[in-house]
Amino acid sequence: MPALLRVDGIEVAYGQVPAVRGASLEVRPGEIVALIGSNGAGKTTTLRAISGLLPIRRGLIEFEGDRLDGLSSSKVVGRGIAHVPEGRQLFPTMTVLENLELGAGAAKALKAESLEWVFELFPRLRERRRQLAGTLSGGEQQMVAIGRGLMARPKLLMLDEPSLGLAPVVVRAIFDNLVEINRRGMAILLVEQNVLRALQLSHRGYVLENGQIVLDGPRDTLLADGHIKQAYLGR
Ligand SMILES: Nc1ncnc2c1ncn2[C@@H]1O[C@H](COP(=O)(O)OP(=O)(O)O)[C@@H](O)[C@H]1O
Ligand SMILES: [Mg+2]
Repeated sequence: MPALLRVDGIEVAYGQVPAVRGASLEVRPGEIVALIGSNGAGKTTTLRAISGLLPIRRGLIEFEGDRLDGLSSSKVVGRGIAHVPEGRQLFPTMTVLENLELGAGAAKALKAESLEWVFELFPRLRERRRQLAGTLSGGEQQMVAIGRGLMARPKLLMLDEPSLGLAPVVVRAIFDNLVEINRRGMAILLVEQNVLRALQLSHRGYVLENGQIVLDGPRDTLLADGHIKQAYLGR
């Protein structure tokens, strides 16, 4: 199947310092793909480059066969990619509903329908829709961040460490939500330091180390891989 997203040999730098050095990856329609690696490996930088928030120095990025790199971040959203950023980045003094509505972007015509879908996925957000986002628990804030991404009606949802700082039971609930979102046909690129959980729910994965993809494959291959076991799973 042709790729939905194709990242080919991208290099991304902060000033003179390269953070991503020739990374390639693909997400096919309907897949959940994990991008795993330690702190500082270049995961966030990769997502920000795909989103048009950072320029690439080499390589190319394609979405549905069309060139994506060079487009503004709002154009990237318009093409069908939503980015749920590291640290959620909600507006704490705005309500849940206001935060969600901000995500609708060009998909405004479908806003009511999208909102209904988000509330169906996250019933707690419906109850708390008038509450200020800053007063929610960490898990609820992550639900708002994901919901805001879904409001854009993306074909690909990219999430940057959705499990960060959340209790294991909350992480499990959030990851169950991702599986449910994927079942409805949305492709997912999941960036995580929580390697075991991320791989368990993914179809395939890539391992990023020092800005380079050092390993990739189907979930079961990666879960059984000696390097992954030793470096990321502590066994
Ligand atoms: N704004 C920045 N300015 C300079 N260096 C940065 C910046 N953001 C990240 N880096 C560096 O780029 C590398 C990759 O970082 P990042 O993509 O955030 O990694 P990860 O998300 O995998 O933890 C790290 O060495 C980090 O220190
Ligand atoms: Mg990061």
